[in-house]
Amino acid sequence: MADKIRVLLKEEEVNARISEIAAQVSRDYEGKCVHLICILKGGVFFTCELAKRLTVPVTLDFMSVSSYGSGTVSSGVVKIIKDLDEPLENKDVLIVEDIIDSGRTLAYLIEVLKQRNPASIRLCTLLDKPERRVKKQVKVDYTCFTIPDEFVVGYGLDYDQRYRNLPYIGVIEQ
Ligand code: IMP
Ligand code: MG
Repeated sequence: MADKIRVLLKEEEVNARISEIAAQVSRDYEGKCVHLICILKGGVFFTCELAKRLTVPVTLDFMSVSSYGSGTVSSGVVKIIKDLDEPLENKDVLIVEDIIDSGRTLAYLIEVLKQRNPASIRLCTLLDKPERRVKKQVKVDYTCFTIPDEFVVGYGLDYDQRYRNLPYIGVIEQ
């Protein structure tokens, strides 16, 4: 049975905001090459849309992580399912995530990636749910949208692996 989905952010709104963030990233990385690290699977749609709009040179790599825990709560113990293909030495790294919730996944990941000696490391997220933050030390450099504490799907975000392909961001109605 199909779930009823309420639109929170329309496709046009999301794309317009990604264009703004891409312009800001392009300004900030002027004269540099930005090494995008897409966090699979949720970050893949946002990464593509962001990358297409950047005017500085771009390289891309992918990482897949899973946090142990049940349902919609992440535990903070993160397992690397697929590691990066390339080393990070001297690269200007921009991590691209779908959503920062408790911040546990990113708090762990940033520590792991810092040990690989990048020239710099910043974080870019499509969505941020600051009300849910447990790891307050996670500093988000670029946020497209701050949203309330609701479980969202679409634009890469899933519920039980479904709805990632929705071109907008929505909330499943009960
Ligand atoms: P954190 O470690 O709690 O920050 O969890 C981040 C991860 O939880 C994200 O990368 C998503 O995969 C997932 N997540 C958190 N909130 C949502 C949501 O509203 N919809 C879909 N996935 C979510
Ligand atoms: Mg995710």
